[in-house]
Amino acid sequence: MTEHRSPDARFRTSLLEENEGPAINPTDNRTMGEIIAARFSRRGFLKGSLAVSAIAATVSPLAMIAADDARAAEGSAFKFDELQAGIDDKHHVAPGYDADVLLRWGDPLFADSPEFDPTKQSAQAQAKQFGYNNDYVGYIAIDGSAEHGLLVVNHEYTNPHLMFPGIVSIVEKDGKKKAEVAPLSKEQVDVEMAAHGGTIVEIRKEGGKWQVVRDGKLNRRITSTTEMALSGPVAGHDRVKTNADPSGTKVFGTFNNCAGGVTPWGTYVMAEENIHGYFSGELPEDHKEAANYKRLGIPEGAYEWGAHYDRFNLAKEPNEPNRFGWVVEVDVNDPTSTPRKRTAMGRFKHEGAESIVAKDGRVVFYLGDDERFDYVYKFVTKGAFNANDHAANKDLLDDGTLHVAKFAEDGTVDWLPIVFGQGPLTAENGFAGQADVLIETRRAADLLGATKMDRPEDIQPNGVNGKVYVMLTNNSKRKADQVDAANPRAENAFGHIIEITETDGDFTATKGKWEVLLKCGDPSVADVGATFSTATTANGWFGMPDNCAVDSAGRLWVATDGQGPKATGRTDGLWAVDTEGAARATSKLFFRVPIGAEMCGPLFAPDDQTAFVAVQHPGDGGEDWDGFGRPSYYEDPSTRWPDFKPDMPVRPSVVAITRQGGGKIAV
Ligand code: FEO
Ligand code: CA
Ligand code: CA
Repeated sequence: MTEHRSPDARFRTSLLEENEGPAINPTDNRTMGEIIAARFSRRGFLKGSLAVSAIAATVSPLAMIAADDARAAEGSAFKFDELQAGIDDKHHVAPGYDADVLLRWGDPLFADSPEFDPTKQSAQAQAKQFGYNNDYVGYIAIDGSAEHGLLVVNHEYTNPHLMFPGIVSIVEKDGKKKAEVAPLSKEQVDVEMAAHGGTIVEIRKEGGKWQVVRDGKLNRRITSTTEMALSGPVAGHDRVKTNADPSGTKVFGTFNNCAGGVTPWGTYVMAEENIHGYFSGELPEDHKEAANYKRLGIPEGAYEWGAHYDRFNLAKEPNEPNRFGWVVEVDVNDPTSTPRKRTAMGRFKHEGAESIVAKDGRVVFYLGDDERFDYVYKFVTKGAFNANDHAANKDLLDDGTLHVAKFAEDGTVDWLPIVFGQGPLTAENGFAGQADVLIETRRAADLLGATKMDRPEDIQPNGVNGKVYVMLTNNSKRKADQVDAANPRAENAFGHIIEITETDGDFTATKGKWEVLLKCGDPSVADVGATFSTATTANGWFGMPDNCAVDSAGRLWVATDGQGPKATGRTDGLWAVDTEGAARATSKLFFRVPIGAEMCGPLFAPDDQTAFVAVQHPGDGGEDWDGFGRPSYYEDPSTRWPDFKPDMPVRPSVVAITRQGGGKIAV
């Protein structure tokens, strides 16, 4: 008996696109409904009322706006001609730039890798080829070069309906065509497992164009079966012991690696995000992990791995989910090194792990937990970074203090330490030690009274201006009485960006200030309440900020996830966002993705002459686009990007953007 499900239900809507499962934060931590948007509104009101009184006497409002426009446009830190927003089956970049496909799903990475053949996929082949759904992109220079280095790329998840031939059938339901996906074979599940994880690959710029060094000696694939170590406070704990690993120290693989980071000491960190989808089966009744798993939405059962491997079936291996939801650190200088899951950094739906060295040498990692009503964290290492001794930094991530953010309406933020024995994190609340606190990081943060956010995605510290940028992608479930100063819109469909300034510019500080940099969405629709500067054009606004980067000049670039024909009438892309002076909150479109894709990466090479972007799940959707108007799947995709060959499926790929004739981007 085969069960058929729609690819939407399986892979996008339920698991990833919106993290739109039932809201699973059960606490009533302050929503500050009674103080609705006090801080942000006051700022907006003052600006508005001054403007009105000044205008009223002499100047027409239109003239006033034109003057604002001119000041903002002149002050913009970004010099490029803006791209036009829109929707089609190709990628587009601003005039004067080239956007070249560098690495596609299935591209060979090793001398002995087979060439990509979508009709002959195997786990063995996939484990030697570039994986699926590229997300985080990092660059680790070789000999300090901006033109020769290792590209590290996460492969977040798989879209079987776009990957495998012959598994989708189209049925009519309620007068509409729907795609149904047949259950995957074990061989296909094995391909999926090999397509997850990460890639480390040598790249080199020659004649102004990037090339993959196919047999680079540090090239490596990490997959859902790569052996890893659990390290830090949770290693060896009873709650992470399984039949395959009675020691509680050895894990097989990583998956749903969303964003990540490169540490100051040159290792690659991968964040495990939506881990709930990979587990199925039922926990034995009254099992001690029931509440823990419920808080993370485990099991969601979107993937069929549990049908073929006992460890993904809760009935058979109830502790396995405690071994996922961590940040994984990889030493890229040794392709045989054992990746380590750094449990001191907490367990939740880790979006990313960008870091910065603080004044005293300790290293601070900013961590988002991407779920509606979940939290913003930061981890401060106990030891200091040693720039002169690589080995001294080896286990910095095993010891430090995890904090969670509490945003107050007066514009301050408190970073609350998540430490066993402090405050409510005691035996009375069911914690026997720091390992329990870390395994149940979300519950610990609930008890501390952290602020429930509108899906924290990437968080980027900016070493140039000393600020920290927090992408909050959206939260359609926030009700009017749940609005607070840091999450100022009910039914927040388009998300917002918060800017944090830590006390005394010290990233380790336990207190800071914050303000909303930008409320996103179409500023021409008053009800949306977007706050782009008036210099932002009809192409320049965006919704759903997700990934972000700062270039070496400290300028902010924002990538989006979840736009499209219905939501915003434009595809996702990369926008340049001013943060300073009169141009603050001006945004310009630089690159956009083909239909169905989201924009991941982004990353600037150290010389700012290349922007690497990751086009994730292109062709995933198209029903609601006039140019296609039907379900998109392997045999009939809404785009065959990037090859556009009839026998080649659509392929997630990393793109390298360079300026024609050379030079830094957007100067
Ligand atoms: Fe994997 Fe939250 O994006
Ligand atoms: Ca993301
Ligand atoms: Ca995303």
